[in-house]
Amino acid sequence: MQDCNQRIETTNTRPESFKIIGTGSCVPEKIVTNDDLTVFLDTSDEWIKTRTGIEQRHICTTETTSDLAVKAAQNALENAHTTVDEIDMILCATISGEYVCPSVAALVQRSLGAQCPCFDLSAACTGWIYLMDTAAAFFARGGIRKMLLIGAEAMSRIVNWHDRSTAVLFGDGAGAAVLEPGDHYLGSSFVTEGNDEVIAIPAKNGITPWYENEQKLPLVHMDGQETYKFAVSNLPKRVDEVLQKAGLQEGDIDWVIPHQANKRIIDSASRRLKHVPADHFCVNLQKYGNTSAASIPLLLDEWNRAGKFKDGDLLVMVAFGGGLSSAACLLRW
Ligand SMILES: CC(C)(COP(=O)(O)OP(=O)(O)OC[C@H]1O[C@@H](n2cnc3c(N)ncnc32)[C@H](O)[C@@H]1OP(=O)(O)O)[C@@H](O)C(=O)NCCC(=O)NCCS
Repeated sequence: MQDCNQRIETTNTRPESFKIIGTGSCVPEKIVTNDDLTVFLDTSDEWIKTRTGIEQRHICTTETTSDLAVKAAQNALENAHTTVDEIDMILCATISGEYVCPSVAALVQRSLGAQCPCFDLSAACTGWIYLMDTAAAFFARGGIRKMLLIGAEAMSRIVNWHDRSTAVLFGDGAGAAVLEPGDHYLGSSFVTEGNDEVIAIPAKNGITPWYENEQKLPLVHMDGQETYKFAVSNLPKRVDEVLQKAGLQEGDIDWVIPHQANKRIIDSASRRLKHVPADHFCVNLQKYGNTSAASIPLLLDEWNRAGKFKDGDLLVMVAFGGGLSSAACLLRW
């Protein structure tokens, strides 16, 4: 096994941040349409489409979270013309790994045959932005040649399929990016409001004979309206803050890459950020639903492969979710 600490200490490069050199993604094969949900839920395609914009989602059948993560990682490595032995760290944002331990990142490491430190980060739907900022800190410390970031979720494993107010919203998928030292990451803005009343996914209590409290189902519990209010008030604020910190204006933004939870939330942010054309708010939630920490890297890969980003474009990624958390970051393409 390679001694990674030694490599970190002996390097001379101390770059400020990173740039993205490749992206990848993967979704499970099975597509579940809104109509498919009406077979066992009291809902309709029309209700789901008008309230959320979601038309279908991909759902795991045989695939695990780490299966999706591995495939997305392989696609990103190929896109970045990078071999596994160049990767010095693998980080994964997820709240739905198949194990509490080992991490999804560790399972990806094994599948890819990588030899580098790995860990998962848990910040729910805001996870990808926390991950980018964590990566920036590692690059600032120096010693990293390339890093693999993954957002991967099998939300279908932790959604309550009897609760129509949450079940219709989520989907499964993974997105990944390969980073190398550079100066394209321009900064971030983060807020966490500790709260388990609006969004919570209780952990399993195991089989302790001494625990006396009521055991809650280890599935998504969400107050939709409170989440909605949190999202529409926080998204524009985080964007304003990150622009201000970087000394940039709203009109400088080329693309907004928002967390894909609800088209109405994105439209509200778009109305508020009026100097960015509405069609420069990237949207693919109609195909995937809310894939939590995977939603932003899934979008990033789709837009990248479609050749929509031009060199030098200013991207703002912005998200909200459990925590309650919200965050934005700026990236030059
Ligand atoms: C969940 C959400 C779509 C619900 O939309 P809403 O307009 O707030 O709807 P409400 O919760 O007020 O419910 C309105 C009615 O629709 C019903 N309803 C809820 N889910 C339904 C469904 N899937 N199908 C049909 N009816 C549904 C409710 O029971 C309620 O009926 P009632 O008026 O008879 O009581 C919306 O609140 C939302 O998107 N919130 C943010 C969620 C989010 O982004 N979560 C991810 C966090 S990262």
